[in-house]
Amino acid sequence: MTFPTIRLRRLRRNKNIRRLVRETQLSIDDFVYPMFVIFGEQIKHPIPSMPGIYQFSIDNLIAEAKEVVDLGIPAVLLFGIPETKDEIGTSAFEEYGIIQKAISALKPKYPELLIITDVCLCEYTSHGHCGPIEEGEVSNDRTLELIAKTALSHVGAGADIVAPSGMMDGQVQAIRRELDENSFEHIPIMAYSAKYASSFYGPFRDAAESPPQFGDRRGYQMDASNSDEALREVSLDIQEGADIVMVKPALSYLDIIRRVKDEFGYPVAAYNVSGEYAMVKAAAQNGWIDEQKIAMEILTSIKRAGTDIIITYFAKDAARWLKEV
Ligand code: PBG
Repeated sequence: MTFPTIRLRRLRRNKNIRRLVRETQLSIDDFVYPMFVIFGEQIKHPIPSMPGIYQFSIDNLIAEAKEVVDLGIPAVLLFGIPETKDEIGTSAFEEYGIIQKAISALKPKYPELLIITDVCLCEYTSHGHCGPIEEGEVSNDRTLELIAKTALSHVGAGADIVAPSGMMDGQVQAIRRELDENSFEHIPIMAYSAKYASSFYGPFRDAAESPPQFGDRRGYQMDASNSDEALREVSLDIQEGADIVMVKPALSYLDIIRRVKDEFGYPVAAYNVSGEYAMVKAAAQNGWIDEQKIAMEILTSIKRAGTDIIITYFAKDAARWLKEV
């Protein structure tokens, strides 16, 4: 049977019919809000390339977290900007490091708000790479020890989920072991499994003060041209104990999200990264696009591709927009 008996337009004729047959529903339940935290007091430092996003001192982080909680957003993803940096990123795993202090302050205030931490050394190393350098390259296996320590220190301070983002081989296994040996076997790992070496991270590196001082990250992050390799990365992370697997960035990698979801059926997170956010903001500020409509279309497409968890700088706005309709 075909036209004229079949007419797909029948189910598009009005809003309520469209509501009934809508396949993808964006929800506040899907969102994780990334936040940047810095030492000091009363700091709310705007990031020029990411309008609406700030570096917060801990006091202001707590105030901002209240908004996040009041909007019903289930989780935040924390990034820290340390006071000091060195060759190996020591400030990432100090007892009173920026993230450890932020978690200890935030957790008692909002015990139900999930605190996810980005576990990586790039914000903490003087050279801006994701691990110590040996003979001009990031040493994979030395990095594992350091990030396992970092993850443990986050969880010890009260983090609910750890998210290793350095793309070191074996990073999920190293963290799983360290957590299990210290009786944190109940803490999930959200692995940045298929993380691409992407120019879409540009604005983030201003926000986190973490650009590599030489070279780039193509020796450890994935090549944008590859898709089968993403499945291998995800498969290994699952074998190493990842509970949630991530694809990052989101928008140029929707095909990867779909393949990962279809292949593994695991909870999939996607990171709608800084450059994706900045492009929308810049065009909207010029009056060239409708920010709300474009942002919601983007977030819906990320979910439609197979994502369960969307990490996005639009989380607060999108939560408000969802409440309006
Ligand atoms: C690494 C990390 C990065 C992002 C999240 N975790 C940057 C990088 O790998 O260079 C990027 C997030 C974004 O662009 O929004 N710690």
